[in-house]
Amino acid sequence: MQRARVIVAGLGGMSREWLKYATSHAKDVEIVALVDVVLQSAQARAAEFQLAVPIFQDVQQALIEVPADLLWDITLPESREAVVTSALEHGLDVFSEKPMADSWQAARRLQERARDCGRRLLVMQNRRYHPKLRAFRHLLQEGRIGQVGMVAADFFLGPHFGGFRDAMDEPLLLDMAIHTFDQARFLLGGRAKSVYCHAYNPPGSWYQGHASAIAIFTWDNGAVFEYRGSWAAEGCPTSWEADWRVVGSRGTARWDGEGVPYAETVDEAASPSFIRKTDRTWAVVEDGVLGGHARALDAMMSSWRSNRPAETEAKDNIQSLAMVFGAIESARLGQKIFLPDGLDQRP
Ligand SMILES: NC(=O)c1ccc[n+]([C@@H]2O[C@H](COP(=O)([O-])OP(=O)(O)OC[C@H]3O[C@@H](n4cnc5c(N)ncnc54)[C@H](O)[C@@H]3O)[C@@H](O)[C@H]2O)c1
Repeated sequence: MQRARVIVAGLGGMSREWLKYATSHAKDVEIVALVDVVLQSAQARAAEFQLAVPIFQDVQQALIEVPADLLWDITLPESREAVVTSALEHGLDVFSEKPMADSWQAARRLQERARDCGRRLLVMQNRRYHPKLRAFRHLLQEGRIGQVGMVAADFFLGPHFGGFRDAMDEPLLLDMAIHTFDQARFLLGGRAKSVYCHAYNPPGSWYQGHASAIAIFTWDNGAVFEYRGSWAAEGCPTSWEADWRVVGSRGTARWDGEGVPYAETVDEAASPSFIRKTDRTWAVVEDGVLGGHARALDAMMSSWRSNRPAETEAKDNIQSLAMVFGAIESARLGQKIFLPDGLDQRP
């Protein structure tokens, strides 16, 4: 099988994860060019990963000069539309970092551009590949807790990134909650129908935009997903995977984002009581399975090679993005927003 020839654009912090994957899968992936508007960033990464490949400042130039099959876009959200569009128009398929776009309109344009060019656009949503999240979903799918009525996710951390996030209008919702919302979709299946969100910048925040948000989503199966998050919360951190509680008709499932998920379900054999007796069942987590970027890239590469739809195809991922931009719009207007229907039926 031919190696996939890959141009990598955006050689900042996150590119390390992608290049680690490429170098450990050298039989499948051949990096053929690096592109960064800051040449030194690309040069530093080339030296770090011992990549003797051409380096460009402009993605168009790389696309003209270097034959390739795929472009990996690890640039910033505001650069994404231009970079991805160039690659699609040059006949390349694209794997991009999250978020798929920095505005709802840009996301729709990218989805349509991919369709019109007959190319594929896959989005990195590494957190849905966490082995314990997968085990948590399996626990829910077994039906142990009955019909799911509520999903709650708490996300409280205080990272001092510096850089582009500090200047974004909605750093939490756009750059981070996309993961948690995508995880909620992964857990629940179906889609979010509406959202009411309050986004704000809490006291002591070092971000310019809204570092905190509380959002309530209604789901097409009647469930409610509640999200509370902050990126300016010092002390008592949750996991980056969020802290989850799912309440069903016969019990509750929990995952704190780190330990083994479990469910507590009503013991039907016990005699009725004020608070019913429950039994705890632990989720079965696959041993020795990778998560994160490595597993996500494995899944993306295998779907790309076999030409089968990926979990994070733009057409699907746009539903997670609809939750993000719906929440942002709701917070802006101070009212409940209904999310676009039928996205999955569009090409
Ligand atoms: N999946 C995850 O868990 C995860 C984690 C962190 C960041 N990210 C995402 O990865 C992306 C990159 O984040 P980062 O932390 O590496 O940022 P970064 O600022 O460290 O790196 C971005 C790089 O892109 C370059 N760049 C910007 N515009 C460009 C353009 N038009 N052409 C070529 N290069 C360009 C910048 O010069 C910089 O070197 C963002 O979309 C971010 O949201 C994802």
